[in-house]
Amino acid sequence: NYIKAFAPATVANVSCGFDIFGFAIEEPGDVVEIWRRDEPGIIIKDIFGDEGRLPRNPEKNAVTGVMIHLLKHLGITNFGCEVALHKNMPLGSGMGSSAASAVAGVVAMNELLDCPLARTELLPFAMEGERIASGSAHADNVGPALLGGFVIIRSYSPLDVFSIPVPKDLYCTLVHPDIEINTKDARYILRDEVSLKNTISQMGNVAGLVAGLMKEDYDLISRSMVDVIIEPVRSILIPEFNKVKQAALDHGALGCSISGSGPSMFALSRGIENAKKVGEVMKRTFSEAGIESSTHVSLI
Ligand code: HSE
Repeated sequence: NYIKAFAPATVANVSCGFDIFGFAIEEPGDVVEIWRRDEPGIIIKDIFGDEGRLPRNPEKNAVTGVMIHLLKHLGITNFGCEVALHKNMPLGSGMGSSAASAVAGVVAMNELLDCPLARTELLPFAMEGERIASGSAHADNVGPALLGGFVIIRSYSPLDVFSIPVPKDLYCTLVHPDIEINTKDARYILRDEVSLKNTISQMGNVAGLVAGLMKEDYDLISRSMVDVIIEPVRSILIPEFNKVKQAALDHGALGCSISGSGPSMFALSRGIENAKKVGEVMKRTFSEAGIESSTHVSLI
């Protein structure tokens, strides 16, 4: 009658793969607790770590919103539970904060119901959590938060999502500057149209990054971590973006870009020592401009 579930932070887009690439990191992550109760209806008992900012209305909150969708799908009408959410990452951080909550929520509910759905079948429900939180049901955070590892969304309609192997020595450095960007705004500023020239560059890099990861070819990974479509537009929202990116590359990162819709930035490196060094230099570069930041280093 009680379930506790954890879902990790994620890096979406991974430079060239807007809305189609994402990977999970080890920590931080959100935790959802759920208790069965006799009376029907979902109640939000507590939310910790959001400074009172997330909606307390169960329909509007991503965690309970996905639970409601799941119950509706299963045709369960008189179910009652209380839910607590522990947010362990900042809102609007680009670390897949809403995705971690939605995934932990849907996994916890499925467990409490004795697992009527398989893990992969929970994905569309977790995506609804993203729609509640940001107005767009992208799967590049919820996919890896649910399935783990490096995930590709080959198609949204029909949904076709799978994981690929990555080199065993590949580390992510995630740096979160103390500013906030909400995903809805960061999507709104994107152009609808892309030139043929940029499409060709981006397709080359997408193909190169997938091949580089699967072949454990670090040089190819590095050459392919280039985004000519989204990064040039969104990077203007992140103070010191170019300096921080250059500092990471100068100190051995294979590549560096915006994590999800920002403001967090991520870098990939070969080996944990390199990843740590890259984190220090990225943090220092932000700090020289008067911006505080926090750093996480994690195996992918
Ligand atoms: N692909 C999404 C975006 C991820 O970049 O808007 C948001 O975290």
